[in-house]
Amino acid sequence: QDIKQAEEFRPKVHFTPQKNWINDPNGMFYYNGEYHLFYQYNPYADVWGHISWGHAKTKDLVKWEHLPIALEEENKIMNFSGSAVVDWENTSGFGSKKNPPIVAIYTSYDATTGFQHQSIAYSNDNARTFTKYSNNPVLNLNSKDFRDPKVFWDEIHKNWVMIVAMSMEKKILFYSSTNLKEWTKMSEFGSKGITEGVWECPDLFPLSYKDKTKWILTVNLGNGNIAGGSGIHYFIGEFDGKNFVLDGTKTSSGLEYQFLDYGKDFYAAVTWDGIPNQTTKSRKWLGWMNNWQYASDIPSRGWRGSMTIPRNLYLDKDDTGYLLRQEPINLTESYDKGMCVLSKKISIDEVNTLFETNNSYSLSFDLSFSFLPQKANGDLIFQIVNDEKQYINLTYNSNTDNWIIIRKDKEINKQEYQSIQTLKETSSYSKKRKHVRIIIDKNSAEIFLDNGKKVATNLFFPSGEKSARVEIKSLNPKIKLLDFSLQKFK
Ligand code: FRU
Repeated sequence: QDIKQAEEFRPKVHFTPQKNWINDPNGMFYYNGEYHLFYQYNPYADVWGHISWGHAKTKDLVKWEHLPIALEEENKIMNFSGSAVVDWENTSGFGSKKNPPIVAIYTSYDATTGFQHQSIAYSNDNARTFTKYSNNPVLNLNSKDFRDPKVFWDEIHKNWVMIVAMSMEKKILFYSSTNLKEWTKMSEFGSKGITEGVWECPDLFPLSYKDKTKWILTVNLGNGNIAGGSGIHYFIGEFDGKNFVLDGTKTSSGLEYQFLDYGKDFYAAVTWDGIPNQTTKSRKWLGWMNNWQYASDIPSRGWRGSMTIPRNLYLDKDDTGYLLRQEPINLTESYDKGMCVLSKKISIDEVNTLFETNNSYSLSFDLSFSFLPQKANGDLIFQIVNDEKQYINLTYNSNTDNWIIIRKDKEINKQEYQSIQTLKETSSYSKKRKHVRIIIDKNSAEIFLDNGKKVATNLFFPSGEKSARVEIKSLNPKIKLLDFSLQKFK
């Protein structure tokens, strides 16, 4: 029965562990045609503890192959979040140029003393097995809140760069190294963003909009995110190889930082390193779909925790300034070809008939609408309902140009899980077509508005499969659907 339940509720296109607990994605790098994903993993239970690095790989970012644990907890020393790189030039000396070592850079957390240091481990067999460096740690500040190193190769200055969080002080430290073993501090950045929660899992990368390239510093927040609890905020600026300097120009929110996701469940996201011919046009990443406010209280079916769909990140611009846009990767290969509807002229009733006849918790749909001949007041409501006990409602209010998300689950006793989220459109957008893409996959709904300029990721736990239902209601006679497509996942 347990196994049946575990499988029945497993998402089709999201990464989940075979069993037990996961949190942050770690050490994401690409090598030899494979994307690697490591993750914070408890090999013994479905709650946080004994943290090791679990491991999986994929060729297409959809079908994952589970691999043995890469870094195990040893002598009560856990392996917290970090990154991994291919050391092509063998700067570390752990391999050779012919067989470049894969080096993981992570936080070793001593559960007895509480200290957090940066350590490294290397692999000579294509990341199948790792050896911890004998002189670990490589960075020790005698701190209990020093974690989550993200390392990349700086091609201009010919050195490695590490960014790492001083979590309680809400600071990001920048280090450089020529061999991944010795690290020199270059600079600090902090106190510009949200200071309510701890700072965790930073990332730094360049992205371009037209002919302008900016550096994006993403910083995860243990608490204080826009929807409450954990989430991500980001800064846009310049990086000269040493210092990250915030842009003088205003961001779209008018603040020095912006929020990445307006839902409750997008955390600890970091980008993939080493993608061949990586340009500044886009960047791939994924996050852990959960929130520390209730992470261990969500229903477990033998496994607890999942990752988002991998997303492409882009730099974009609206009326007020630069912002990050996110879109799910191309999922065409995972669509059930027999169940794919693409329609230009369709009514809301016809859309509902399609939802009715294809009730399923694993589908993706895309819908655009506008007001004809001119704007009128009234809501457009998207309901993802399960027997009224669990639901996510997405409402577009044409009067205020706000999107409101309400997520409720009467069976989850944590107040913080019940949530109302507001996503405000930027002004000029109200004249254009509205666009919504929603991916529903058993236990989550990822909502992308306006081609991913606003995103909201939320978990969702249907307690019985039969009553699953997606429905659209229009209280606005002037709303006209422009196009619609619906795909079911295989
Ligand atoms: C973020 C985090 C990291 C830490 C890891 C421990 O969710 O708290 O800062 O390295 O999880 O599992």
